[in-house]
Amino acid sequence: MLRDGREVLSSVISSQIALHAEHGGVVPELAARAHLEAIAPVVDAALRPLPGGWDDVDALAVTRGPGLVGCLLVGALYAQGAAAARGLPIVGVSHLAGHVYSAWLAGRHFEPPLLALVVSGGHTDCIELREHGVAERLASTRDDAAGEAFDKVARMLGLEYPGGPAIQREAESGDPDRFPLPRTHLDSAFSFSGLKTAVRYAIRDLGPDMVGADGVPRDAGAVSAMAASFQRAAVDQLVWGLEQAVERTGAEQIAVVGGVAANAALRSAVTERFSGLTVVIPPLALCTDNAAMIGAAGWHRLQRLGPDVHGFAVDPSLAEFA
Ligand code: KG4
Ligand code: ZN
Repeated sequence: MLRDGREVLSSVISSQIALHAEHGGVVPELAARAHLEAIAPVVDAALRPLPGGWDDVDALAVTRGPGLVGCLLVGALYAQGAAAARGLPIVGVSHLAGHVYSAWLAGRHFEPPLLALVVSGGHTDCIELREHGVAERLASTRDDAAGEAFDKVARMLGLEYPGGPAIQREAESGDPDRFPLPRTHLDSAFSFSGLKTAVRYAIRDLGPDMVGADGVPRDAGAVSAMAASFQRAAVDQLVWGLEQAVERTGAEQIAVVGGVAANAALRSAVTERFSGLTVVIPPLALCTDNAAMIGAAGWHRLQRLGPDVHGFAVDPSLAEFA
């Protein structure tokens, strides 16, 4: 629940991590069912701080895409039902715009232009937000998203899902120089497949005695050093890509958003490297998926374009920045 698009009155998150952890990743059918079970209690909890409950709500925002169709449908149909029943305006926004607009919830006052590095389980994008709602994608990933690479490498190391926080924890006690891993530097693009493959080979090169039947290194020191080496290489690649985009655009304000922006090594590398610029990195809880960021993007969209008509469709592969 947001006031004026910037102030978070409540942010309720129903995590499905435990549900998916045993499968090592998100199972779409389970995710959609869990959304259906969670949505009414989550909305009720989000309304709790409002003295008038629903009567105090002026408008609704909901994710229109991209994402898993079952999950998008649960959210969009619930929100459109509520909007129709209460005669409220509603806007459908993109998940990507939500991540970019999470920067506006970081407690700083600024306006576009803004260069945003969106790093999540589904995205590795450099987005230039020229003005509200007007965005250009300067670079995106050719293969895995950054978060996906964290998740896959964590799995190779026998660490739990989601991999990002697990890699970060392991990396704290690991030697980042023990395994020399390559960096992929591309023009206007990111790529994580080379780095991922290099981790696979580095594990293999430990030798058969050092690797269990499941392919995971037996030695805890090797696991933490591999996590640290991977994390450093991934952060280097992201910072390098951001540097290119800053040079190209002359950006003076940058934001790092999305689940991987919760990574402590990335946060400090960006803050240090771009110390001469305005750097906005939202608090951890607003980096990983949350409804407040969708509210922020929706509020800005409502100001500019007014409400959507009732009955708009979800789009699992929505490419538009809306
Ligand atoms: O934005 P998000 O919550 O969901 C998507 O839209 O995908 O991002 C989830 C991703 C996962 O891949 C997770 O491993 C990663 O963010 N992540 C992290 C950290 N916390 C979450 N990656 C690196 N370090 C972290 N501390
Ligand atoms: Zn996300």
